[in-house]
Amino acid sequence: MAYWEWRPSYELGIKVIDNQHKRIVKYINELNDVFKTNDRNQIIVVFASITDYTVSHFRFEEQLMEEAGYAMMDSHKETHEKFIATVNKYRKSFNEGYDITGQLMAELQIWLTHHILNDDNDYKDCVKKMFSDKAVKRKEERTKAQKRGWFSILFRR
Ligand SMILES: [Fe+2]
Repeated sequence: MAYWEWRPSYELGIKVIDNQHKRIVKYINELNDVFKTNDRNQIIVVFASITDYTVSHFRFEEQLMEEAGYAMMDSHKETHEKFIATVNKYRKSFNEGYDITGQLMAELQIWLTHHILNDDNDYKDCVKKMFSDKAVKRKEERTKAQKRGWFSILFRR
């Protein structure tokens, strides 16, 4: 059984973000599996991958929030930075030979669950609105282009 099962309640309804969150949960399960092997090299590889992926996910989220004009973006960004600092602290302890497994796994799960259900849930309406406004605009532009097309056909000499 996986360490952490994805739950439908984690879904924000923003497909691209939900897929990234699912990937992070999958990485956390991978990290848990690799910890059991005690293979330090493998642990280092998976640990680095999960950190890199999470950092790029945060940057992606921040770009969306900025584009959407989300009011709480700065404090959200701050929670991302704090989390990255925490993970790096664990990585440092691991490199120094400490057994961080139990504590790290628990912290990852608790922090991410809380973050998705609260912080990410808070920006979802704003980001969804930005996406739907964009879709409406694209549709309007298509209609305009179509009308222009008809106009030129009707009045073609
Ligand atoms: Fe976030």
